[in-house]
Amino acid sequence: MKRIQAIVQNYPEGSQTSAISMALDIVQRQIGWIPISAMHKVAELLSMPRMRVYEWATFYTMCKREYRGKYNVKICKSLPCMLRGSDFIIRAVEDATGCCAGGLSDDKMFGVDLVECQGACVNAPVIAIDDDYYEDLTVCDVYNIIEKLRCGDIPPSGPQGGRYAAEPCCGLTSLQTGPPPPGYCIQEALRQDKKGDGCN
Ligand code: FES
Repeated sequence: MKRIQAIVQNYPEGSQTSAISMALDIVQRQIGWIPISAMHKVAELLSMPRMRVYEWATFYTMCKREYRGKYNVKICKSLPCMLRGSDFIIRAVEDATGCCAGGLSDDKMFGVDLVECQGACVNAPVIAIDDDYYEDLTVCDVYNIIEKLRCGDIPPSGPQGGRYAAEPCCGLTSLQTGPPPPGYCIQEALRQDKKGDGCN
């Protein structure tokens, strides 16, 4: 409550409703999901109609309106990930967690969801577990990640195949030389004019 009140104060008078995304995020981080009673409380705090909060919570897939496990595993199934083997990743996640897509594992540790593009296509296939992205996945990586989470470890996120970020797998294909010096490719006429000024 204190955090939400502090955030609301950052907005100009009359625009406090803009704090809705942060308010719902705080609720979700505290409780694990966003029950309707919390939506009502947020509406009351931000002096906005309840319907506006329902609209927000139902539009954004990151708003969880039911408990989705200690770890919410979101598997991207959009085209680039599909072309890079997301069907195998889906099966591996379901097998490793013991939970079908859309379901919750018996021990309530994992909730598995299929989602649309998560904006990391260049590192496809991708899964997001809560706030962390796991990219360049193989089936083997999936089993390792789920096993570590089950044991209480948080495996390192990011590309799993050795890439630092989204650079080409076969090494750099651009920016392979140092930058050219000042005046590079400048028109000859300009170069001569500037010579007298001591400029290059
Ligand atoms: S298609 Fe999977 S991250 Fe974009």
